[in-house]
Amino acid sequence: MKVLVTGGAGFIGSHLVDALIEKGYQVRILDSLVEQVHGGKIPDHLNKEAEFIRADICDAEAVRKALEDVEVVYHQAAEVGVGQSMYEIVRYVKANDLGTAVLLEEMTKKPAQFKKLIVASSMSIYGEGAYRNPKTGEIVYPQLRTDEQLANHQWEVMDKDGTELEPIPTSEEKPLFPTSVYAVSKQDQEQYCLAVGRAYKIPTVALRYFNVYGTRQALSNPYTGVCAIFSARLLNGQKPLIFEDGNQTRDFVHVSDIVQANLLALEKEEANYQAINVGTGIPTSVKEIAQMLAKGLGKDIEPEIVGKYREGDIRHCVADITKARKLLGYEPKVRLEEGLRELLDWIKDQKPEDRVATATVELMTRNLVK
Ligand code: UD1
Repeated sequence: MKVLVTGGAGFIGSHLVDALIEKGYQVRILDSLVEQVHGGKIPDHLNKEAEFIRADICDAEAVRKALEDVEVVYHQAAEVGVGQSMYEIVRYVKANDLGTAVLLEEMTKKPAQFKKLIVASSMSIYGEGAYRNPKTGEIVYPQLRTDEQLANHQWEVMDKDGTELEPIPTSEEKPLFPTSVYAVSKQDQEQYCLAVGRAYKIPTVALRYFNVYGTRQALSNPYTGVCAIFSARLLNGQKPLIFEDGNQTRDFVHVSDIVQANLLALEKEEANYQAINVGTGIPTSVKEIAQMLAKGLGKDIEPEIVGKYREGDIRHCVADITKARKLLGYEPKVRLEEGLRELLDWIKDQKPEDRVATATVELMTRNLVK
């Protein structure tokens, strides 16, 4: 069976390609090798057994060729910087929205050809996670914290009655409230795929990835996520810069568990036309990540709590993975300690350029870090 992986040269896509090849699938990659991620070069990790087409997802003719004889499509191609999406809006909308539109339009020309479409969605579409009011027991879906509250360094999310809310696992039922152009475009990708899939009877699954980490993260790209950013800084002997107070939490999921969910989504019919969280269900604070990484590298570098905050940032979001367990038979396998150890072993041999300072200045001049 032939499988197309868009974005198959990237961090998550390339791990997925390796796993598919190992399972005996014939794999074709469509990837434009975005300069910011790949420096315009074919990455060393690109699987030699995969067929590689270097082209833009918005190039309909290239997409048409890439889809020839393909029965399964994994749509992983996307621009992924949340902060950057707020000033390079056209670039993000083009790659993520228009790119998905081009792919789907080409697929609708021969819908019967496709047995499955699996699209990479994101926890970013939730905005804030789900919470409970400890006084009333009520489940609350708050919107973003106010500027006034953040300016006063009151970081936790409050209910209307002034009670500090307790984070609880976020299920797929939570109303969506994307807070960046990136997040809106991820919501679009998910919904375009599910809507077109349903209409044309192409079984479609959207996987909502939580905070993914692992080898092959683009370390020199300051927009990749906190694990890669902190690792790159520590390796260059610099302090990780922590926004807010460092007690904000996320669900850090190892890339191999993301791959596991993608393989299961291909096999399981129960998952068709569903959006499913992929995380671990375990919250970890940003401060803990900084400490674990510094310890792992044997560096005595304390993070710097800058007390500033990023526009559109959420406080807590951790996956409720009940649905993934039920529909996919998914069970996260890699513990954070183990996964970070592997990340660090790999990072030691990398020579990451630290572009975080420049990126932060970029965000500050636009008033996106305050
Ligand atoms: C966002 C997206 C997510 C995407 C991820 C990586 C949202 C809600 N989610 O996640 O879909 O996969 O980016 O692109 O938009 N932090 C620091 N110092 C830093 C960098 C980050 O303290 O140098 C903090 C942030 O303020 C945040 C946390 O670390 O509180 C996590 O940030 P990040 O890794 O960028 O991911 P998210 O914003 O959670």
